[in-house]
Amino acid sequence: MSDLHLLKEKALKQLGTIHTLEELEAFRLEFLGKKGAITELMKGLGALSPEARSQRGADLNAVKEEILTALSQRQQELEAHALNERLKKETLDITLPGRPEEPGRIHPISHTIEEVMAIFLEQGFVVEEGPDVEDDFHNFTALNIPFDHPARQEHDTFYLKGKLGDQAAVLRTHTSPVQIRTMREQSPPFRMVALGRTFRADYDATHSPMFHQVEGLVIDKNIHMGHLKRCLSDFLKCFFEMEDLPIRFRPSFFPFTEPSAEVDIGCSKSKGTLKIGGGTDWLEILGCGMVHPNVLRNCGLDPEEYQGFAFGMGIERISMLKYGIPDLRLFYESDLRWLRHHGFSALQIPSPLLASRR
Ligand code: PHE
Repeated sequence: MSDLHLLKEKALKQLGTIHTLEELEAFRLEFLGKKGAITELMKGLGALSPEARSQRGADLNAVKEEILTALSQRQQELEAHALNERLKKETLDITLPGRPEEPGRIHPISHTIEEVMAIFLEQGFVVEEGPDVEDDFHNFTALNIPFDHPARQEHDTFYLKGKLGDQAAVLRTHTSPVQIRTMREQSPPFRMVALGRTFRADYDATHSPMFHQVEGLVIDKNIHMGHLKRCLSDFLKCFFEMEDLPIRFRPSFFPFTEPSAEVDIGCSKSKGTLKIGGGTDWLEILGCGMVHPNVLRNCGLDPEEYQGFAFGMGIERISMLKYGIPDLRLFYESDLRWLRHHGFSALQIPSPLLASRR
């Protein structure tokens, strides 16, 4: 009995040091496997006398049972432990606060472009596009600005080194070349707007070498200045969301329109603050006029048959006025704090569009 007792002690002690299921399997093989210690002892039973065999057999079985019981208990413990470990690793700590997500903002220029576009699309205009790099013909000559015309100087043009065909290449100084492209490539009637980047060598609080313009062109039979006035008045009232916005058309000059006008809106300026609307002051806001017959001819249209009007305005300027932004350079500084404050939610529907649906 004492050899069995020692064996049992050894087995139970060893079991206490086992920490993995693999070690447990090795233990099982060591004691209870085909060549295990207990099995080997069982094999010795045959050589004993019948009485001794039954006693020894019973003792062996008892030890085997005890080891088996201890083994299966250890197995349960190890399995439970393994499960707990896994659960612990896989738990989500739902009490952790979420990482705040900073939603992006729409840049005021993009927002203003969307607003302007929404209003003109409602008025039945379509959007046309043209390249940023233009040739001299589209940017100047076709617009009735010949080579020696003083208006060229006013545009502070960026001339590029290369040429486009036999023409000087420039960064377009206004969106008006899109009028020319549209009239030369399509057939009338036209009712288009072009929105995009324009470039002039100028830099201060109200000028940037790159800025944005919106251009409009309406050409049909029997279009007159009354159409121009109504179209632009509607636009300005809608954009500034002010039904009684004072609007003034003041005679002016552009080589590509005749007659030409500049449009002012009423405002009040006091102690450095500007209020759009009533008051006694005027703010120049855009240029417009009836398309010059020379421009129509340059685009293959007969001025006796087709007439129309055009207008152009700076996006930065109207955005600064509507949203109270004092310095145009702020638009391009990419200061995130400024953008978060002055930017717009992506879900915000352009307000003039809502107003026009009243
Ligand atoms: N292209 C002119 C400018 O940049 C604006 C304009 C467009 C004026 C169309 C009249 C008609 O100053």
